[in-house]
Amino acid sequence: MSEPKDELLDHAYDGIREYDNPLPKWWLGIFYISIIFALIYIPYYLFLGGPSQEDEYAAEMAAAAASAPKVDAAGEDALEKIAADAGRVGEGKALFAVNCMPCHAADAGGLVGPNLTDDHWIHGGRLTDIARVISEGVPEKGMIAWKKQLSPAQIQSLTAFVRSLRGTKPAAPKPPEGEPFGG
Ligand code: HEC
Repeated sequence: MSEPKDELLDHAYDGIREYDNPLPKWWLGIFYISIIFALIYIPYYLFLGGPSQEDEYAAEMAAAAASAPKVDAAGEDALEKIAADAGRVGEGKALFAVNCMPCHAADAGGLVGPNLTDDHWIHGGRLTDIARVISEGVPEKGMIAWKKQLSPAQIQSLTAFVRSLRGTKPAAPKPPEGEPFGG
């Protein structure tokens, strides 16, 4: 680029002369565009009800919650099939030994958490009930919401394993809690 030629303006103040150095075109372009942008942006978001950051955040969280796979959405029949799959039960057994044993005991006879081998359930004994409790937890009673740490498939495997515990004989079973479940 050739250097623009400086032109002296024809005035002087106390002997100080001034060059006419126009701002570069690209710079002026950005400047004017930013003014036009502000004229649209500020009225839209401040006065015309454009969504705030909080609104957009809430909308995105609601959309994510709605699209997240629900462990119990698979339904009783699908969970019944998983419960009949020895591989999935085995996967659930391994997950149980790592995550659940501290509160429910290694043989699921119950410690802080209830006995999972009897026919009594506080939150219902259907497979969808069990999957939901594992996923959502019962935070006020100390049962963790595992959906934050385990995938829906892992929670389904745990559900299958919990079902396989029914009728087993733990060493020191906690007395039954909740309602008897026939099914
Ligand atoms: C920090 C202790 C703790 C851990 C770890 C824990 N639980 Fe629990 N769990 C509880 C408590 C306490 C309850 C009883 C909640 C209530 O009284 O409503 C419970 C309830 C349950 C129930 C419902 C029982 C019923 O009678 O309805 C199931 C199923 C269950 N837990 C499975 C699991 C599985 C599977 C894991 C491992 C992924 C696990 N829990 C890990 C404390 C725990």
